[in-house]
Amino acid sequence: MIKEITLQELNTPEFIGTKVEEIRKAVGDGNAINALSGGVDSSVVTMLGHKALGHRLKTVFIENGLMRAGESVQVAGFFEELGVVVDVVDARQEFFAALQGISDPEEKREAITQTFYKNVFGRIIRESSAKFLLQGTILTDVDETVAGIKRQHNVFEQLGIDPQEAFGYRILEPLIQLRKDGVRKVGKALGLPKELFDRIPFPGPALAARVIGEVTPERIETARKATLVVERTLKNTKTFQYMAILHEDRVTGIRDGKRDFGQQIEIRCWDSIDARKATPARLSFEILEQLSQEIIHEVPGIVSVTYNIATKPPSTIEAV
Ligand code: XMP
Repeated sequence: MIKEITLQELNTPEFIGTKVEEIRKAVGDGNAINALSGGVDSSVVTMLGHKALGHRLKTVFIENGLMRAGESVQVAGFFEELGVVVDVVDARQEFFAALQGISDPEEKREAITQTFYKNVFGRIIRESSAKFLLQGTILTDVDETVAGIKRQHNVFEQLGIDPQEAFGYRILEPLIQLRKDGVRKVGKALGLPKELFDRIPFPGPALAARVIGEVTPERIETARKATLVVERTLKNTKTFQYMAILHEDRVTGIRDGKRDFGQQIEIRCWDSIDARKATPARLSFEILEQLSQEIIHEVPGIVSVTYNIATKPPSTIEAV
């Protein structure tokens, strides 16, 4: 049973001091490694690890081909300014090969988990001398995995998987008692720029969590282009999270006077405190219309745009 630290209970300097000490103690004079995605959880873990271990923490950004436009360069740049060196590793082909032909959500998540931890990251760890992996698992990830709602790609022990046995390394999870709001507060205190600590959440499986059906480079590119429009348009809405989802069903449309059996994008924009429950934001119709026009104009193949109005539960925030 993991003891939650609520936002009200969180004493940030004390939390940071304790976690830095715990990381130092666990790693001893060895090395640790972590994967940075640029999301708030992995960014906070990177800073905690850097504070605790300095150059003995190796931080890698795995370019899995599923990230948003320009993401690896942008994230590595933010950390460079903070004095943290980030190695960007190109693993696009391995991820797409593993995802080929799979459309079941849990199988997709499993393929990404296996490719990430066993193949790509496992290889990087074996080639380094690190015995410890720092990971940004938060309490919501654990809750939902245990409840069988959705397997979060960064939860092992609660699933009965021994990372030492399965992948050959020990995992340290300094954020596991926190929820998203607490993580942001710690990130701010650690000196992360607002672009990082206040970033909307982005899932481990990245855009693959937003492509219903098979994940191919082309389909990811469609979701990526739509994401660019949605993030650009909704960034000042002060909502919890917003996204574009590519549907598997196709619908009849008309383009240039001709029938076009095209694809559909679903927009989701959530109000939420901690991702456990969420309600669709009451966006104005003007914003929705603007989103629709820009997506249809800028994303090839899209003839239909919808807005999700279901709450979580029974919906989940991501589609996969
Ligand atoms: P769901 O879709 O389960 O998402 O309602 C709850 C929150 O978690 C994010 N999410 C993930 N985060 N690894 C992560 O680190 C994952 O595999 C993952 N899947 C979903 C999601 O974006 C939302 O904020």
